[in-house]
Amino acid sequence: MDFLTYLETAASEINEEMEKFFQSWSKEVASVSPKLISLNKVFIQASEGGKRLRGALVKLGYEMAGGKENADILKAAVAFEIFQTAILAHDDIIDLSPLRRGKPTVYKALGGDHYAISQTICLGDIGYFLAVRSISQSNFPDQEKNQALSLFAQAMLDTALGQMLDVQLPHEKDSAREADALAVFRLKTARYTISGPLHLGAIVGGANKKLIDDIAEFGSNLGIAFQIQDDILGVFGDEATLGKSVTSDIEEGKNTLLFIQALKKASAEKKKVLDSYYGKGKIGQQELEQIKKVFVDTGALEYSQKKAAQLVEEAKAVVKTMDIAEDKRFLLYQMADFLVSRKK
Ligand code: IPE
Ligand code: MN
Ligand code: MN
Repeated sequence: MDFLTYLETAASEINEEMEKFFQSWSKEVASVSPKLISLNKVFIQASEGGKRLRGALVKLGYEMAGGKENADILKAAVAFEIFQTAILAHDDIIDLSPLRRGKPTVYKALGGDHYAISQTICLGDIGYFLAVRSISQSNFPDQEKNQALSLFAQAMLDTALGQMLDVQLPHEKDSAREADALAVFRLKTARYTISGPLHLGAIVGGANKKLIDDIAEFGSNLGIAFQIQDDILGVFGDEATLGKSVTSDIEEGKNTLLFIQALKKASAEKKKVLDSYYGKGKIGQQELEQIKKVFVDTGALEYSQKKAAQLVEEAKAVVKTMDIAEDKRFLLYQMADFLVSRKK
C-alpha cells in the first residue's frame, strides 16, 4: 500500500469515529445547556476537512509497534485530531488568520470580536480536555495508557511552548537566527505533527525504548522539514488549494527560514522591500509578488527547499535501521517524500 492510500483509508476510518464521538459529545453539551449547542457546532465544523495526517500517524505508530487489532486506537487518533483543531483555533487568533481548511477560522466564524475570541479560547480549551479524556477512557492496558497520557501531555506542552517562542522571537531585540527558528519548529511542529502522534500509537501498541527513540529522531528531522515546506506553501502556495491565506505569514512577520535567509542575503534595495512589507500588517497582491521575488532572488526559496530535502534524507536514514515490518518502513519512506512535496 502506498502512503497516500494509507492516509486516505485511515482518514475515512477516523472521520467515521469522529462523527460518533461528536454525536455523543453534542448530547452532553445539550444536556448542560441548549445555549451552547450552536457554539459547539462551530468547533465540530472546524474539525471537518483536515488531512487527518496526525490521526493516521497514531494508527501507523500503533502498527509499527506491532499493536494487536483494537478499535480503540481510532479513539486515540480522534483525540489527536481534536487536539489539532483546538490548537489551530487558538493559533488562528494568535496569527490573525481568516481562513482554515477552506472555511472561516473559528474566531472569524463567531464574528471576530472580543466575544468571538473569548468563546474560541473556551472551545479550544474544551478540545484539549476532550482529547485527554478520550485517551483516558480508551481500552488499553493501564500501564501503557498512563504512559500514553504522560506522553500526550508532554507533546501538548512542547507544542504550546513552541507557540510561545514563535510569538516571542519577533519581539526580541536581536534579529532572528536560523537556530531559533529551528528550535521553534522542533517544538511546535515536529512534536505535534510527527513524533507526538507516532509515539502515542506506538506506546499503546507496546513499543520498546529503541523504537520510541528512533521515532523521536525521525520525527524531529521530518517535522522540521514539514514546517519549512509549510512556510514555503504559506507564501508560494495557492490559496484555494491550501485553504488558508498566503499573505498572513508576511503580514504577521512570521519568523520563517525564508525570511531569515532572505534578510541575510538581501541587497539594500531588497532589504527595503522586506522592511516595508514584512510584518507590517495587511498587504495586497502586488506586495506579495514583491516579497516572493525577494525570496527567489536572494536564493532564500532554494535554500529552504534544500534544507527540507536534506532533513528528509536524514529522516529516511533513521527509518533504515528501525526495527519494524518492511511494509511499514516503505510507508515511512513514502511519507517523508510526500510531506515535503505536498501542495496543501
Ligand atoms: C500552526 O502553526 C499550529 C501549531 C503548530 C500549533 P503555524 O501558525 O505555523 O501554521 P499555519 O500556517 O497557521 O497552519
Ligand atoms: Mn502560528
Ligand atoms: Mn498560524
